[in-house]
Amino acid sequence: MNIVMVGTGYVGLISGLCFAEFGFKVTFVDKDNNRIKKLNQGLMPIYEPGLDELFAKHQKNTKQIKLSNDITKSLSNADAVFITVGTPSRRIDDDADLTSVYAVAEEISHNIKKYCLVVIKSTVPVGTSRKIKEIIQKKVNNSMFDVASNPEFLREGSAINDFMRPDRVIIGIESDKGEKILKSLYRPLYILETPIVITNLETAELIKYASNSFLATKISFINEVADLCEKVGANIQDVSKGMGLDKRINSKFLHAGPGFGGSCFPKDVKAFSNTAKKNNIKLSIVDSVNEFNKQRPKILAKKIEKFFSNNVNNLKFALLGLSFKPNTDDIRDSTSIIIGNELLQSGAKIIAYDPKAMKNSQYENPKFKYGSDVYDTCNNVDAIIIGTEWNEFRALDLKKLKTLVNKTIIFDLRNLYNQDELKNLGWEHISIGR
Ligand code: UGA
Repeated sequence: MNIVMVGTGYVGLISGLCFAEFGFKVTFVDKDNNRIKKLNQGLMPIYEPGLDELFAKHQKNTKQIKLSNDITKSLSNADAVFITVGTPSRRIDDDADLTSVYAVAEEISHNIKKYCLVVIKSTVPVGTSRKIKEIIQKKVNNSMFDVASNPEFLREGSAINDFMRPDRVIIGIESDKGEKILKSLYRPLYILETPIVITNLETAELIKYASNSFLATKISFINEVADLCEKVGANIQDVSKGMGLDKRINSKFLHAGPGFGGSCFPKDVKAFSNTAKKNNIKLSIVDSVNEFNKQRPKILAKKIEKFFSNNVNNLKFALLGLSFKPNTDDIRDSTSIIIGNELLQSGAKIIAYDPKAMKNSQYENPKFKYGSDVYDTCNNVDAIIIGTEWNEFRALDLKKLKTLVNKTIIFDLRNLYNQDELKNLGWEHISIGR
């Protein structure tokens, strides 16, 4: 089977390489020549564990993958084409920007010469896949193509594993031929007994948004409970554990912290609410989650300022962690960076460090200073803020750090450290919900 992935972002690259790993021939298409050139040299546009190795394996050893900027040629032999381009939030109304998705659909419609299954993997609002079908129908006979919705559930930082061992595969398809193709593409997962949900286009699209919004809701819920814990002397980690042991609740996504960030939850929660509004439904829970999460990093920055009697002018903060989560260099909607910028605006100085996201942050946050490692970053600072739970920050040499800092204060926004241990070592330890 020949597959074409249009869009070489994180979803396209990971999904395409994993299909190559399953044994299929995959052509990656991107209109950005520079990106294709770099990929050809083995230079990945993002950091994702295992990505370089998987790419090199299929480029050099198995030769299962090809790169191209020519969609016409690539589609001539394709059994399935996946649309994996971005759907960022539109600035004006927070809706998903579907310009790229529709442009690719147009291009596909000009280039289908034999039967081809068009699969939408980009996260798109309900109704988009059907619109894509209409776009293609204008140029191509119905017998020559089908449209499917096959949303992705890949977490940055563990995306390859999430693809190879998913909890489920969601397929929105309304033709037997298309269903057969998608089922054979995912056949390698049968051995793991991965559940496959076959449904219509709208349902598949909605499952994606409802899943992300529900996970986001879990996070905001536990963050609100964490705030209450601080007032009443309870411990959020024990609360999460106690709740999570109930199988109906489950312990995942109950880690309190500075709120959710990244390229998916913030934009998907907003787009989900907008879709509902257009259909005269108010998703009041989703709206509250969005509002609460937007404020959360700002409130935490205020909390830090309050600790210093609302005067952080000229105080130096070491900001450890800039990516929105560990194991990625993605800084989109990073709560850590939002907090850093809030403090900066109040007159503080920020010295930042991240194992992988330094380059991205340096470009976007030139007012931060940057350290070369944790210890260099913490030199002479008035407080340390742990913003992202990178493994490298979990076992810091706190005795050594004590000799470097001006003041022994740690704002542990990811609850990495044991409070008593830090107190015994002479640190003032401010964490979340404890
Ligand atoms: C998320 C979903 O988990 C994926 O299933 C989905 O495919 C992806 O969005 C997408 O739509 O493409 P991702 O954004 O990579 O994946 O990362 P998550 O691990 O879900 O974390 C999202 C945010 O929530 C991070 O800022 C993280 O720090 C925060 N979080 C997560 C918490 O604050 N507490 C938790 O318990 C879990």
